[in-house]
Amino acid sequence: MCGITGYIGRQDAAPYLLGALKKLEYRGYDSSGLALLHDGELIVRKAKGRISVLEERLMSEQLPFMANIGIAHTRWATHGEPSDLNSHPHTDSEGRIAVVHNGIIENYLDLKKWLQARDVVFASDTDTEVIAHLLNYYYKAREGKFFEAVLDALARLEGSYAIAILCTDYPDRIIAARKDSPLIIGLGEGENFLASDAPAFIQYTREALFLNDGELVVLYNDHVDLFTNTGEKLLRDTTHIEWDAESAEKGGYPHFMLKEIHEQPKALNDTYKKFDEIKLNDWLKGDGSPIERIIITACGTAWHAAMVGKRAFEALARIPVDVEIASEFRYGNPVIKSGDRVIVISQSGETADTLAAMRLAKEKQLPILAITNVLGSTLAREAISNGGSVIYTLAGPEIAVASTKAFTTQLMCLYLLAIKLGVLNKTISDSDYSTYRNELAQIPEKAALLLKQQEVIQKFAALQFNKDKVFFMGRQFDYAVSLEAALKLKEISYTHSESFAAGELKHGPIALVDTRTLVVAIATQRPLFEKLVSNIKEVAARGAATLLITFANKGKTNYDEVADSVFIIPDTIDTFSPMLSIIPAQLFAYYCSIQKGNDPDKPRNLAKSVTVE
Ligand code: F6R
Repeated sequence: MCGITGYIGRQDAAPYLLGALKKLEYRGYDSSGLALLHDGELIVRKAKGRISVLEERLMSEQLPFMANIGIAHTRWATHGEPSDLNSHPHTDSEGRIAVVHNGIIENYLDLKKWLQARDVVFASDTDTEVIAHLLNYYYKAREGKFFEAVLDALARLEGSYAIAILCTDYPDRIIAARKDSPLIIGLGEGENFLASDAPAFIQYTREALFLNDGELVVLYNDHVDLFTNTGEKLLRDTTHIEWDAESAEKGGYPHFMLKEIHEQPKALNDTYKKFDEIKLNDWLKGDGSPIERIIITACGTAWHAAMVGKRAFEALARIPVDVEIASEFRYGNPVIKSGDRVIVISQSGETADTLAAMRLAKEKQLPILAITNVLGSTLAREAISNGGSVIYTLAGPEIAVASTKAFTTQLMCLYLLAIKLGVLNKTISDSDYSTYRNELAQIPEKAALLLKQQEVIQKFAALQFNKDKVFFMGRQFDYAVSLEAALKLKEISYTHSESFAAGELKHGPIALVDTRTLVVAIATQRPLFEKLVSNIKEVAARGAATLLITFANKGKTNYDEVADSVFIIPDTIDTFSPMLSIIPAQLFAYYCSIQKGNDPDKPRNLAKSVTVE
């Protein structure tokens, strides 16, 4: 949901800003812009469209100077259509102040009226523009005191923001602030950076300062000062970011999504290996009562991981699990009992609904376990500061909008946790535990094996990408996977795809099946295989093309008689199959998107990190 960045130092700011915007493009890509400060003047350039449009505009212009300070923005429109005018940065009427903003100013209409009553003329339809004019107002009221004006303006804002501000009268600093939107400062030598996400600057420095909500930072080229939003100075330790710069590059792959699909064996292995170092005692102990129920809350793909997790905890540890979509949980009035525990899952750790769900869980005094991929994310920091625990998935940066390696590593964490709880609950024996551990240890290798069959899916997608509808169906674990498979396909190929619990098909959805439909059956739960065969027959009889994703046949059934096409995944325990069976579906979505000429990394209308409601 928009990415912001900023640079102050001795180098040319523009190339850094453009490079950083490309790293942040996954957060929004309908328009972009930058503001440079040079010789007491603001130079603002903005363009509707991808960052390449802005870049071409700048290249053709060849700015005749080098600015050492600047801010930039890549947009995912919330208020006002994507256009040059609505792109950030926004400036005050005197061209003295420039602002970039990620978030939503909820009281912007009131503020706009208040400013219009003071003769301010607005140039855009955005909520952000009010910040620039408000800053101008307080700048004058404070007789040119920039810092104080920022404090006054921030006090008027309701909603969420990560903002960066330039002022022509203060060419030696950038002021930035955050509330409910991510903001990280990169500390370099003689230069400093700010960004919504670390990949923007890790090529230059891996020393980072994470801002908390309600904090403000002033960046100079040789140091940064951190403050509360009432102006008190703060001291904070820096964090070393382990991710290397290369992991945020495409590394020879045509798209981040394909690269990330192929990174799954390593990501799964890293996540598996680190799990035992994680301290879960606070969460396990909770209020002292044994675990009676787990509530898992998350959004999108992470919610699908939760659906798999439910089956895993119930099968392996015999603990009942409720799975709640975070945007529903946050507005509900959950019935809480002693013995309840909460797990909150979020790749980014910044999803607004998921954070709100965690805050509700905290209000209800539930022990919180966060599963996230991003070190220092709001989810991780708030979970810890509330006495909770954190499991990091070690997937590395996930840049493609459609989540892949985050999903499978979330599953790895949930399975490892489920068997751990199984031992504690005595629902699995020590020897079963070893068997499960061994099997989980082999999943990365099996994922690598599966990826070698990529071409099979590529060819299948070339034949089927034009179907009107694609339905995924399965039972139990396979149903949870089919939810994720359908989401992947609709996100990046824009094909209407849905997922059904296979048994539900005949209760209504089968009415939609016709000759323009592809039905993908995921059938890895061996005791239920024959049920799926019947379901495939039912849809085939209505003219649907069919694909079966399953384990190798041990001789009983002739797969050629079951479905039009079959994709075999490496053998594993039925319970663990989701970490493998999702991979062909990810590849199918990727190749359908390519066939349709879409950009799988940046699907229309979506953004990677949903930091607004
Ligand atoms: C789908 C996808 C989204 C995210 C969802 C939650 O491919 O990426 O559905 O899973 O927006 O994001 P996180 O996990 O960052 O909270």
